[in-house]
Amino acid sequence: MRILSGIQPTGLPHLGNYFGMMKAAIELQEKGEALYFVADLHALTTVRDPEALCKNSREVAIDFLACGLDPAKACLFRQSDITCIPELAWILSTVTPMGLLERCHSYKDKLAKGLHASLGLFSYPVLMAADILAYDSDVVPVGKDQKQHLEVTRDIAVKINELYGEIFKLPEPMIRDESAAIPGTDGAKMSKSYGNTVELFLEESALKKKIMGIQTDSTPVESPKPIEGSAILGIYKHVASPSEYAAMEQEFLAGGKGYGDFKKRLFAAVWEYFAPMRERREQIAADPAELDRILKRGAERAAAFAYPVMERLREAIGLR
Ligand code: ADP
Ligand code: TRP
Repeated sequence: MRILSGIQPTGLPHLGNYFGMMKAAIELQEKGEALYFVADLHALTTVRDPEALCKNSREVAIDFLACGLDPAKACLFRQSDITCIPELAWILSTVTPMGLLERCHSYKDKLAKGLHASLGLFSYPVLMAADILAYDSDVVPVGKDQKQHLEVTRDIAVKINELYGEIFKLPEPMIRDESAAIPGTDGAKMSKSYGNTVELFLEESALKKKIMGIQTDSTPVESPKPIEGSAILGIYKHVASPSEYAAMEQEFLAGGKGYGDFKKRLFAAVWEYFAPMRERREQIAADPAELDRILKRGAERAAAFAYPVMERLREAIGLR
């Protein structure tokens, strides 16, 4: 089984990224050939600061390693190091109906947020299809918001296969139910573009500040608190044991405790959950040359997977 996923270096990885995608990706590295990359070409659709793009690409890779990605098992690489990907995206774009892309929510959402309607932003899902199809991927662990992009990928693969024969494997998305959306500090989906993120490796005081700043309603201390839609519980669920979570839920319903108490417990649980990873992160961050080697080796291995697929495609379409 071949497993593939990517994460954009548009900022630093947050709890939504970890529980929505990275955790599953790391578990899957034991189950097959895993390829995980930093989607720097995709990030170019929104990031205009070259230093930030470069720095965040490395930070994302470091966070992934700190969280348990084992470079001896999984390939970790930069999307832009695999130079056939934009070529493949071009070939795929020639069979992609405009209407398929026009229907994509993420494009419409980005325009609604005021992003410039560039060709790259519009064809973002075609580049993502190239990422997935280039490696004969079977399974793609992603958060729920990427489901439509996976459907576009499958549609494009079917189109190529109809036109030219069986070139591409049809990939399956792997979406955890629980990852429907990890809430951010304002209760909406946690996302870099909403400014409501809790990054994985904040300093202790910064993490405390973010968690104590989670927006809550004005229910008095003594009254029962609503559990539906609570960002505190929504995050706690992932970092606490089932019994700890059930206890907090009961205490919400019972009343008599203020949100401040719950937030302190949430902070302690998040801090503890990521403690071993924080330690590993320090070691990895201290050795930039080793990170370079990991990314280079990852790119070489990934390119070797993509090469036969590209050969198969070029031959079939007449680029001989
Ligand atoms: P962001 O929305 O912060 O820009 P990305 O688009 O880089 O995040 O997402 C990287 C991965 O993390 C994707 O698979 C995405 O589905 C997942 N993800 C991001 N935010 C969340 C969230 N709040 N809940 C669940 N999964 C998420
Ligand atoms: N679009 C994905 C996101 O924003 C990142 C990504 C790019 C990706 N290419 C991919 C994810 C291929 C999975 C497979 O999260």
